[in-house]
Amino acid sequence: MSDISSETRFLHAVEMGLGAWQWGDRIVWQYGHGYSDEQVREAFRISLQEGVRFIDTAEIYGNGLSERLLGTFIKETDQPVLIATKFFPWPWRFYKGAVVRAMKRSLARLGVESVDLYQIHWPNPIISTEMLMEGLSECVKNGLARTVGVSNFSQSHMLAAYSSLARHNIPLASNQVHYSLLRREVEKDGTLARCKELGIRLIAYSPIEQGMLSGKYSPENPPSGTRARMYAGILPKIKPLIKLMTEIGQDHGGKTNSQIAINWLICKGTMPIPGAKNAQQAQENTGALGWKLTDDEVAKLDEASDAVLA
Ligand SMILES: NC(=O)c1ccc[n+]([C@@H]2O[C@H](COP(=O)([O-])OP(=O)(O)OC[C@H]3O[C@@H](n4cnc5c(N)ncnc54)[C@H](OP(=O)(O)O)[C@@H]3O)[C@@H](O)[C@H]2O)c1
Repeated sequence: MSDISSETRFLHAVEMGLGAWQWGDRIVWQYGHGYSDEQVREAFRISLQEGVRFIDTAEIYGNGLSERLLGTFIKETDQPVLIATKFFPWPWRFYKGAVVRAMKRSLARLGVESVDLYQIHWPNPIISTEMLMEGLSECVKNGLARTVGVSNFSQSHMLAAYSSLARHNIPLASNQVHYSLLRREVEKDGTLARCKELGIRLIAYSPIEQGMLSGKYSPENPPSGTRARMYAGILPKIKPLIKLMTEIGQDHGGKTNSQIAINWLICKGTMPIPGAKNAQQAQENTGALGWKLTDDEVAKLDEASDAVLA
């Protein structure tokens, strides 16, 4: 089994986090329409109150606004917050100094001296993984990042990153990937198993499948914006899965579909980071903590999800 390094152990103790892509993003999430600064401040406050203190942001979320808002919110609380942010590998950022420079800009927006996790947002075929990992290593050695990770890395890319960092005596802390009851590639292709074997924390993004698994959307009531087209093909197929999630939730004293979707990911040994636009969503999502689906329920959900994805 896994040999988790002492530097990254704290990440394995985090059961779930809060995603902050919604904070400032107008393209997918329509920030400013129906929710704004006050609503996301409350989502942050409620999450902390309910014990969720790992927040995932990125320099590109809201063009830096997500990091700036997080920086403001952490100054308003006495509670400790674990901060994860990300470097975006634009093609012109092909030298290791670019990683350190971007890190320093993120730190300035966040108003802190270091973050707990600095991640490469996506691999870029024209930028070498070796170079990106050298940049991340510099961030750790300079005390700017406590640990470092990757995101959207395939198993082979992830292993290259792992080996490259190992040459600098730095563990690869995490791989943040799309994983939900409607996206199970990382489970099927062995990435999740490899993460467990190597002590890499798998952070599951879009755990509620951008709201689709909450059960509130249907072909008759589709989401707005870019999500409408993205989910037009799958929405007509998910009814039996949603029905099963609701039934299982009822057996657990009225847990909601979103809570079932998040808890399923915790049961798979990953750290889900649901995004929340407001206090109500944040409150509901933290209700995924403190209880567990049974093995039998996980198996039934696996089966229903397989049927949708077949
Ligand atoms: N590394 C990457 O490339 C990457 C990519 C995507 C996301 N992420 C990270 O992962 C986080 C989460 O992923 P995500 O935001 O894509 O998707 P998600 O967490 O699956 O869905 C979040 C959306 O679902 C709806 N929602 C949330 N809680 C709900 C509830 N309890 N009931 C009903 N609806 C609810 C909200 O949208 P509506 O109210 O509008 O429906 C919310 O914006 C992001 O914030 C970001 O930090 C990373």
